[in-house]
Amino acid sequence: MTNPKILVTGGAGFIGSHACVALIAAGYRPVVLDTLVNSDARSLRRVSRITGVEPPLVRCDVRDAAALDCAFAEHDIAAVLHLAGLKAVGHSVSDPIGYYDVNVAGSLALVRAMERAGVRTLIFSSSATVYGDTPRSPIRESAPYAAVNPYGRTKVMVERMLADLARADARWGIACLRFFNPIGAHESGLLGEHPHGPPDNLVPYISQVAVGERAHVVVHGNDYETPDGTGVRDYVHVMDVAEGHVAALRHAADRGGMLAVNLGTGCGASVLEVISAFERASGRHIALRVGPRRPGDAPAYWADVQHARDRLGWCARRSLDQMCADSWRWQLANPHGFDEREPALAARAVI
Ligand code: UFG
Repeated sequence: MTNPKILVTGGAGFIGSHACVALIAAGYRPVVLDTLVNSDARSLRRVSRITGVEPPLVRCDVRDAAALDCAFAEHDIAAVLHLAGLKAVGHSVSDPIGYYDVNVAGSLALVRAMERAGVRTLIFSSSATVYGDTPRSPIRESAPYAAVNPYGRTKVMVERMLADLARADARWGIACLRFFNPIGAHESGLLGEHPHGPPDNLVPYISQVAVGERAHVVVHGNDYETPDGTGVRDYVHVMDVAEGHVAALRHAADRGGMLAVNLGTGCGASVLEVISAFERASGRHIALRVGPRRPGDAPAYWADVQHARDRLGWCARRSLDQMCADSWRWQLANPHGFDEREPALAARAVI
């Protein structure tokens, strides 16, 4: 099939929009399915400014069986990247049923619609959160499931469901991609992350401090047993993650079966190291205050990346400095996210 069409659920979001860029670069035609609850349709115009192709948008919920059937009927879909879902750990504790509904029931509705349409290649956005408090890094994919919050458990449940499906029906080709900490932005500065409300995650928060929108970063604890006392994570460039999807898609379409694979760099960086890298990238001082540990945070973990290399022929290529430089370029050029008003005009509009 020339230029196969790929349905990308959550395709207007941070990782989904970058995945669209990587798909188009690799010769695929993404069709985006998104509610826009936590994303912005204007990201797709930015995809078009980068690639020359604007993916069509089907605005609907992944739990809506009839709308899914229409999307599969209208577009000749060859495979699905499933990124749609809720992802705030704290919110999943206060609203677990909401999380099981969107993440688990949504995945089930999608798989059923794929069956009806005869589409059986699926790449699922999972998370390193499935490993929970796994004590030893680098973490291999064979580590046991040990998710410690409802969000993580939704990812485990979907992975288990997909493994059972692949075992029951050899026509399916499935890959579960366990993201570590995707950050950065497309190198053009046209596409990046724009959280609605105060950011939960470290790098969007640092970016907003650098640009003067927030006063200081709160470092959540500096008394961990790590080299500088702050939490260590495996930060991975969002375009590397996007390219990982393309590699997984090729693998799942060619080989079938079910594969679970880490998408990380294999290296950890501490909170203070990320702040220093961002200061280098931006040339700005990042004010910080040390606060208490954030409940539920693990001290340190990073990926074993051998499996991704062996099975997908994929490895992360971009450095932490590049991740910060690209985040900064995006933040500086788009202080209001996808809202293209000039800062001065935006200020006048507020008055
Ligand atoms: N941190 C701060 N200050 C902040 C925000 C974060 O010090 O304002 C620290 C955290 O304590 C942690 C590190 O920065 O040590 C990274 O925190 P993030 O919130 O950016 O990311 P997490 O590692 O907590 O979680 C992310 C995703 C989860 C996913 C997990 C998988 O948000 O959805 O990675 O590895 F499950």
